[in-house]
Amino acid sequence: MSNNVGSLVFLRTLPHMPTTREYDFAVGDKIVGFLQLRQVPSAAENLPKHFASHIYYEIIPEERGKGYATVLLSLAVKGAQSLGMRELVLTVDKSNTASRRVIEKNDGELFNRTECPEGTVLAYRVSLR
Ligand SMILES: CC(C)(COP(=O)(O)OP(=O)(O)OC[C@H]1O[C@@H](n2cnc3c(N)ncnc32)[C@H](O)[C@@H]1OP(=O)(O)O)[C@@H](O)C(=O)NCCC(=O)NCCS
Repeated sequence: MSNNVGSLVFLRTLPHMPTTREYDFAVGDKIVGFLQLRQVPSAAENLPKHFASHIYYEIIPEERGKGYATVLLSLAVKGAQSLGMRELVLTVDKSNTASRRVIEKNDGELFNRTECPEGTVLAYRVSLR
C-alpha cells in the first residue's frame, strides 16, 4: 500500500494471533514508522482492556512532526477496507495530542472516554463503509 509520500511494507502476521498484521512505514529508502493492524481489537499485555484498539502506530522520534503518521493511518484505513473491515476503533490517551490529531484528520469520531488511574482514555471510530 502506498501513496506519493510513503508506503506500508508488510512484515508479518503474529504467530499466536494471525489476525494481527505488522508493517513498516517507509518514506523513500528509510523506515520511519511501524503499524500494527488488528482485525480483532486488543491492547498490549501491560495495558488495561479499555485500551483495546484495532491499530497501533509509531513514528521514529527524529521523523515526527512531518505529517507521516497522518499518511500512515490513511494507508492503514485503506488496508483495513481491503481486508473487509467495517470500522476501526482507536484508543488514545487524552494527553497524546499528536495522536488525537492524526486520528481526527483521518475522520475519527470520538465516541467514548474512560477515566482510569492512568488518565483519560479516548476511543475513536473510523467508519470504513
Ligand atoms: C503520535 C505520533 C505517531 C505522531 O506522529 P507524527 O508523524 O509526528 O504526526 P504528524 O506529523 O502526522 O502530526 C499530526 C498532527 O499532530 C500534531 N502534532 C505533532 N506532534 C505534536 C506534539 N508533540 N504536540 C502536539 N501536536 C503535535 C501536528 O501538528 C499535526 O496536527 P496539525 O496537522 O493540526 O498541525 C508520534 O508522536 C509517535 O510515534 N508517538 C509515540 C507512539 C504513539 O503515541 N503512538 C500512538 C499510540 S495511540
